[in-house]
Amino acid sequence: MNQDDQKKAIAAAALEYVLAETESPAPIGIGTGSTANCFIDLLGEHKDRFSGAVPSSEASAERLAAQGIPILNFAESGRMNFYVDGADEINSELCMIKGGGAALTREKIVASMAERFVCIADESKQVPVLGAFPLPVEVIPMAAVSVSLAMEKVGGKPTIREGVTTDNGNIIVDVHNLEIGDAQAWEEAINQIPGVVTNGIFAHQRAEILFTFSEGRVISVLA
Ligand code: 5RP
Repeated sequence: MNQDDQKKAIAAAALEYVLAETESPAPIGIGTGSTANCFIDLLGEHKDRFSGAVPSSEASAERLAAQGIPILNFAESGRMNFYVDGADEINSELCMIKGGGAALTREKIVASMAERFVCIADESKQVPVLGAFPLPVEVIPMAAVSVSLAMEKVGGKPTIREGVTTDNGNIIVDVHNLEIGDAQAWEEAINQIPGVVTNGIFAHQRAEILFTFSEGRVISVLA
């Protein structure tokens, strides 16, 4: 199955899981990216089961609205049972690199308001060690150089993502050449650098369940 079809099949399996575990009508947290888009498109058919969705980006908010799904803020949603989102890389402990779509900060915030992070990621995203995908770091613009120097000190090769401003008005520094063994330690250390808003390692908020593809079929993996 090609990657696009994998994404659709994984999104459908994740939706089935969420629906089975949802007492309606409930709010749901929704991520950003092409796999999250597959989920949003399917969610439209079941919108009566949800009071609305808290999106992690303006792009996802637009797509949810096009499906007729009400957009909620945290005051309206409170804590949610589920946050559903994709990943750029995921390891066997269900720690992830995210932020390929530059939405990492809002993704982390919305994920923090959910009991369960449901990750939907095709086969290509599974890795033994995080870091082959350049680590996105959201940075306040004036700190572009200082954060880049700090990342070089730990062996990274930072590049500023050209032409990208995040929904929060910041820039993205993509850090190549990292081998992220202890994901939690790396996440904490990078977040201590002045000017970093957050980094794309999701170890503190790893996924509780992963829907992915293996040996020609959709599988789920629990943390
Ligand atoms: C956006 C993200 C996405 O979840 C990640 O980039 C995966 O995207 P896709 O589903 O398109 O492969 O973190 O900031």
